[in-house]
Amino acid sequence: MTLLEQLEIKHAIFLAPMAGVSTPELAAEVSNQGALGSLGLGASTAEAARQQILATQALTDQPFQVNFFCHQSAALDSQTAQQWIQHLQPQFAKYGATPPEQLRCIYPSFLDNDDFLNVLLETRPKAVSFHFGIPHAHQIQALKNAGIITLVSATHLTEAQAIEAAGIDIIIAQGIEAGGHRGIFNQSFDSCIKTADLVQLLKKHCSAPVVAAGGIMIGQQAKAMLQLGADAVQLGTAFVQCKTSNANDAYRKALFNQPLTQVTASISGRPARGLINHWHTQVDAPDRPPVAAYPYAYDLGKQLHAAASQQGDHGFGAFWAGSNAAQIRELEAADLVNQLVLEMNIA
Ligand SMILES: Cc1cc2nc3c(=O)[nH]c(=O)nc-3n(C[C@H](O)[C@H](O)[C@H](O)COP(=O)(O)O)c2cc1C
Repeated sequence: MTLLEQLEIKHAIFLAPMAGVSTPELAAEVSNQGALGSLGLGASTAEAARQQILATQALTDQPFQVNFFCHQSAALDSQTAQQWIQHLQPQFAKYGATPPEQLRCIYPSFLDNDDFLNVLLETRPKAVSFHFGIPHAHQIQALKNAGIITLVSATHLTEAQAIEAAGIDIIIAQGIEAGGHRGIFNQSFDSCIKTADLVQLLKKHCSAPVVAAGGIMIGQQAKAMLQLGADAVQLGTAFVQCKTSNANDAYRKALFNQPLTQVTASISGRPARGLINHWHTQVDAPDRPPVAAYPYAYDLGKQLHAAASQQGDHGFGAFWAGSNAAQIRELEAADLVNQLVLEMNIA
């Protein structure tokens, strides 16, 4: 069975799940065109995740993918946290604000308990993908028993091999060009492989289908990935500008006006690629202390962004974007899918 048959979709195009940007409307618009829509639910509570899945199911009877984070929940190292708060204190002061005294764990991991799993077993989306790691064996088995297709992001070969060994159905090959968080399992090691190289590496050594993600903005790039052996492509940044996405005006403007990107861990505590802004030019000074762990640093980052935006400065936004963001086009999601399909079919 091909990947398209397995997922019951027409086009080898996936909308990347994007926590904070995904909406049921965007997911349904993409799925209704015969591609695979998605919901990024890693930043949601179990109840909010449930509501988003139900809302999407009300808008489309076509398959879509939902996504959760499988990070290893770390206990807060209070010394690192205090140093990080101190490092950002002058930034807060610029906007007449004070940083919090403590950092909170704002995102639970899928690994912490079975609350998200139970939502999946109740709502039964076609597919579920995971970022930052692999679910527990009992969770994978429960998803299999429910007939839900599983996907996990890999950024290098040994992650992909672990994914296959765990019995996951599909591997997402996330290259260094990708917008958003690096899917690396272990933060102390990032091999930074480009999408095209990673696709070829994984196709050579793995037997599960491989989805190429990272830097794909137009159909010709998607087609090139399929020619290298990818079974489908996954695009995030290209869809952020769509009317049905949840991106705010500042983010949309920055995507079109200043589309240069860089990876930093300062915003959330994990490395992620986004549009270059104050995080990269002011916070990431060579003498900065170690960043507090994910997602504690993100708690502080979001509060700094809120304080700055209240004063009209949007330079601390988490404006995730891939390295080919400059190729972004202003197109509705349905039109973008159709345009990509046309470009992929050009000889
Ligand atoms: C705004 C944004 C948010 C993202 N959020 C998630 C997420 O919640 N879960 C996830 O697995 N990947 C997330 N990613 C990464 C994507 O799955 C994918 O790897 C990336 O978008 C591909 O690169 P591209 O943006 O150049 O197309 C996000 C990417 C972007 C641009």
